[in-house]
Amino acid sequence: MSTDQTLTFMRHPAPNPVTADVRAGLLRDPGFGRIFTDHMATIRWTQDRGWHDAQIRAREPITLDPAAAVLHYGQEIFEGLKAYTRGDGSIALFRPDQNARRFQASAARMAMPELPESLFLQAVDELVKIDAAWIPGDDGSLYLRPFMFASEPFLGVRPSYEYLFIVIASSVGSYFKGGAKAVTVWLSDRYTRAAEGGTGAVKCGGNYAASLLAQAEAIKHGCDQVVFLDAAQHRWVEELGGMNVFFVFDDGSMLTPPLSGTILPGITRDSIITLARREGRTVREERYAIDQWRADAASGKLREAFACGTAAVVSAIGKIKSAEGEFKIGDGEGGPVTAAIKAKLVGIQRGDVADADGWVRKIG
Ligand SMILES: Cc1ncc(COP(=O)(O)O)c(C=O)c1O
Repeated sequence: MSTDQTLTFMRHPAPNPVTADVRAGLLRDPGFGRIFTDHMATIRWTQDRGWHDAQIRAREPITLDPAAAVLHYGQEIFEGLKAYTRGDGSIALFRPDQNARRFQASAARMAMPELPESLFLQAVDELVKIDAAWIPGDDGSLYLRPFMFASEPFLGVRPSYEYLFIVIASSVGSYFKGGAKAVTVWLSDRYTRAAEGGTGAVKCGGNYAASLLAQAEAIKHGCDQVVFLDAAQHRWVEELGGMNVFFVFDDGSMLTPPLSGTILPGITRDSIITLARREGRTVREERYAIDQWRADAASGKLREAFACGTAAVVSAIGKIKSAEGEFKIGDGEGGPVTAAIKAKLVGIQRGDVADADGWVRKIG
């Protein structure tokens, strides 16, 4: 797949953008995923023309034929990444090339065309540039949501011959309502997220649709997120609904479930493994059984656990609840390793810590 195709984006700025005053009001307490910017980037793909018709235009509802394949067979994939304002006032993205590549992997798995990396990055850059005023201050950021779906009106079951790629942006603050507090997770013993040979390792909408009932159950039990076990044995810890998971032990070592094909290869996960190993920590990518998690939490061998992903960055896990009761990790408030890893990662993203791996891509 070519990675260097470029297109000229036709610019049609929004005729009635939100005024600076209204925007300032919206950005005071953005929450997560409910405040949207003025524009979106779009690119079309058809079987005969390939990628074409790149635009930056007003964000507005899109018209879809009721027979559009996505509405029936769910051919849809997406990504999530953030644009940050850094200490020096510049705007930057964190490892967006990795999102572009994962988007290609998702497309391949869902029998969709692979968007060249250059076009993915171009679309994201152009949108951030035109909507830069929407990046909130303090520790807020602009959450970018590239996605693609089958737009061909056709009811036969086969890969669509037409797709629409869109990037929208949302001004965001903290992902969890409690901010930096340790989260409580619900252990789903009934529902699983992904099975071997399925789509767990890619970011398709269907994975999330299948997780929502478990997530609703988590909320009903007063939890912030759901943690899934493997589909075959209901024994091995996989990941949370939208985050990977790490464990920190009394000898300073860390463990995270391996990329077995049923969990998402998180970019935050990969970054944390790299940073922790460079500090001399042992990080094992190994299976971890739920019974072991309980036993290690009880014995004190397990000192900390945390969830990680673009949206919430790093969040300490304080407590696990399940049908069989609940248990706490450490004092239930999170610990120093989790805090240090979070500080380092955020420091690199914001420009306060040296970016030894060239992960930060400045815009403009
Ligand atoms: C199911 C799932 N696991 C893990 C992650 C973390 O991935 P990343 O660190 O690339 O955001 C996400 C978020 O994208 C996710 O949806």
